[in-house]
Amino acid sequence: MKLGRLNHIGVATPSIADSIAHYRDVMGATDIEEPFDLPAQGVKVCFVNTPTDSGMNGTQVELIEPYDESSPINSFLAKNPAGGQHHICFEVPDIEKAREEFEGMGKRILAPTRIGAHGTPIFFIHPKDMMGQLTEIMETPKESH
Ligand code: CO
Repeated sequence: MKLGRLNHIGVATPSIADSIAHYRDVMGATDIEEPFDLPAQGVKVCFVNTPTDSGMNGTQVELIEPYDESSPINSFLAKNPAGGQHHICFEVPDIEKAREEFEGMGKRILAPTRIGAHGTPIFFIHPKDMMGQLTEIMETPKESH
């Protein structure tokens, strides 16, 4: 396994609008992208960009709100009504190789590899196999090279 950069931290929220106000007014975020729907994954998504000294893309906060009643994050919000940290996402250079390596280590991958919110292939690994942390693995976007 070749660990890449921490791309984003997934934060579940009952209201992206309220979370945007929080990151803008409390945390001082100045680069918040337009929210968009990702119905295939049952979520509405909004990226909050954090700055870096280098001019490279900073780690993002990925706000996720349920898209509908069947959303996979409804159960998380039932347990955490105010929302909270849901998953972390690391980049890898080669998604298929990473998947094979995790499977080879006996890690339970939650679904087929699919296209995630950044338009690149992703998969999730079961938190019980990852020291309690729901972990998203994402292929590094080509344009960031
Ligand atoms: Co994510």
